[in-house]
Amino acid sequence: MRRSLVVGNWKMNGTLESAELLAKGIVAGLGSDIADIAICVPYVYLPNISALVKDSPLALGSQNVADKPLGAFTGEISAAMLKEFNCQYALVGHSERRSYYGDTNESVAARFCQAQEQNIIPVLCVGETLEQREQDQTFAVINEQLDAVINVAGIAAFNTAVIAYEPVWAIGTGKTASDEQAQEVHHYIRQYLAAKDQTIADKIQILYGGSAKPDNAKGLFAMPDIDGGLIGGASLDAESFLKIFHSI
Ligand code: PGA
Repeated sequence: MRRSLVVGNWKMNGTLESAELLAKGIVAGLGSDIADIAICVPYVYLPNISALVKDSPLALGSQNVADKPLGAFTGEISAAMLKEFNCQYALVGHSERRSYYGDTNESVAARFCQAQEQNIIPVLCVGETLEQREQDQTFAVINEQLDAVINVAGIAAFNTAVIAYEPVWAIGTGKTASDEQAQEVHHYIRQYLAAKDQTIADKIQILYGGSAKPDNAKGLFAMPDIDGGLIGGASLDAESFLKIFHSI
């Protein structure tokens, strides 16, 4: 039985004050240990939020990580730096990084490896645009995104990784994939990995992301290959994020 995981992605939102309030509110409402839970906060809030969640089950993550270990890479944050603030997860390849900031399959693979070098679990985001879906390219796009990492890191690296399927057309748009649409792709991803390593495929957590909300989370999480969610907008409110978490 796979343990579920719910990850909040705060993106570039909040103030230090609101971030601390939100983290405190989440910790206060966690209740019993039903699943893993993490928040990916803006880099600059990591020291404060790290101190706040220290003795709680709420894990900390970053929204990206540098593709190099250190050096003259202005504006980047290394995995070793993230480790100093107890990051357990790092998103890599989020579609906003890919489309607005030029993160390529190649750099995403390097970021994935850098995270693992520091024992940080990479959450590899994959997903198709609306145009790609309409042209029946969903699986081909996902193959490419997965292969880029598998070819560099090896399939064994997926022993300590999470995958997030996030159809780009569903992110922040209010358009969620239907339970069946999401399950179809999650199943596909698991089968794709199973062809390379059945044990890893059975074990890996595959999260759904894209306008997941308290009122649609239960249906999505009930699907056999959906092991939780990567939550953007709805993770900015403690009550709605906790409702999603408790839908597991
Ligand atoms: P959303 O974002 O829940 O606001 O659609 C999800 C994500 O981008 O991770």
